[in-house]
Amino acid sequence: MPRSTHIALATCAQIPGLDADDRLLIEPLAARGVTVTAAVWNDPSVDWDAFDLTVVRNTWDYPSHYREFVAWAREVPRLANPASLIEWNTDKRYLAELADAGVTTTPTDWYAPGEVPRLASEGVWVVKPTVSAGSQDTERYDLSWPQKRANAGAHVARMHSAGRTAMVQPYLSAVDTAGETALLFFRGEFSHAIRKGALLNGNQLDATGLYLIEEITPREPSAAELATARKVLAAIPGGAESALYARVDLIPGEDGEPTLLELELTEPSLFLAHHDGAAERFADAVVSLL
Ligand SMILES: Nc1ncnc2c1ncn2[C@@H]1O[C@H](COP(=O)(O)OP(=O)(O)O)[C@@H](O)[C@H]1O
Ligand SMILES: [Mg+2]
Repeated sequence: MPRSTHIALATCAQIPGLDADDRLLIEPLAARGVTVTAAVWNDPSVDWDAFDLTVVRNTWDYPSHYREFVAWAREVPRLANPASLIEWNTDKRYLAELADAGVTTTPTDWYAPGEVPRLASEGVWVVKPTVSAGSQDTERYDLSWPQKRANAGAHVARMHSAGRTAMVQPYLSAVDTAGETALLFFRGEFSHAIRKGALLNGNQLDATGLYLIEEITPREPSAAELATARKVLAAIPGGAESALYARVDLIPGEDGEPTLLELELTEPSLFLAHHDGAAERFADAVVSLL
C-alpha cells in the first residue's frame, strides 16, 4: 500500500459529516495509515480523482436523484462497491435474478408504469418502489378493506406517474416477532449480524427525513440464515469478493425458511457499533482492496 493513502467516504448533503456509525471507521483506518475525507457525492467541487479509493457510504438521498447517482458512480475512478454492482443492486429487480439462481426470495409482483396492478382481495401486502432506500415510499396495506385497496392502488399510481416501477409483496408477518436478520460480509467474509425490528408499524422518520428509525440489536445468525446468505453472495455478478461490503437481509417466510428481502451492495448501514471488532474488520477489508 502506498504511504499516506487517502480515501473518500461518500455521503449526502443532509449528513455531510457522515452517520455516527460510519464515523467509527475513521480511527481504525487512520491506525492502518489511511486518511479519510467525508465527501458529498453530488458536490461538484469534489475531485474524486484525488482519492486512492471512494467508498459509498451514506448516500441515502439517491432514490430521488437516481440517474445522476448511477452516472456519478460510473465517473468515479476507483469506487467501492464498483459502479457495475451499484447499477445492478440499486434496482430491486435483481431479486428476480436471485430467485432464478435458486435463492428463496420474497414473492414479488412487478408493475412497470402503464401496467394495471392485480391486487389481492385479502391479506396484508407491501407496496414499494424498485428503487428505494431507508423504507422511503414503502407501505403495508390490509387489502381486505376496500379503502385500503384503493389506497394501495393510488400508491402504485403515484409511483407510475413518477416513472417508477412498483413492487407488491405479501407482508412477511414473522418480521413482527422474529424481526429481520441482516448479515454483514466484507469481501465475501462473514463479519457480524444484527436484528432489525419491524419497520412498517408507524415508525417515525429520522430527523434527516432519509430513513425510518430502526430498532437494532446484535444477533447470531442461524446456520440456515448463514447458508442462505452465502448462496446470495455466490450469485453476486463478479463474485462475492468483488464486493467490499454486502448486507443480506432475511425474514422468515411462511414456512419459517430464511427469505431474502434485500441484498444491499450500495449504501447499507453496517451496524458497526453493535459488534466488537466490526469496524476493524471493515478497515482491514478496505486496506486489502487498496
Ligand atoms: N414483504 C415485506 N414483509 C415485511 N416487511 C417488509 C416487506 N417489505 C418491506 N418490509 C419492511 O420495510 C423495510 C424496508 O423495505 P426494504 O425492502 O428493505 O427496502 P429499503 O430498505 O431498500 O427501503 C424492511 O426493513 C421491512 O421492515
Ligand atoms: Mg432494507
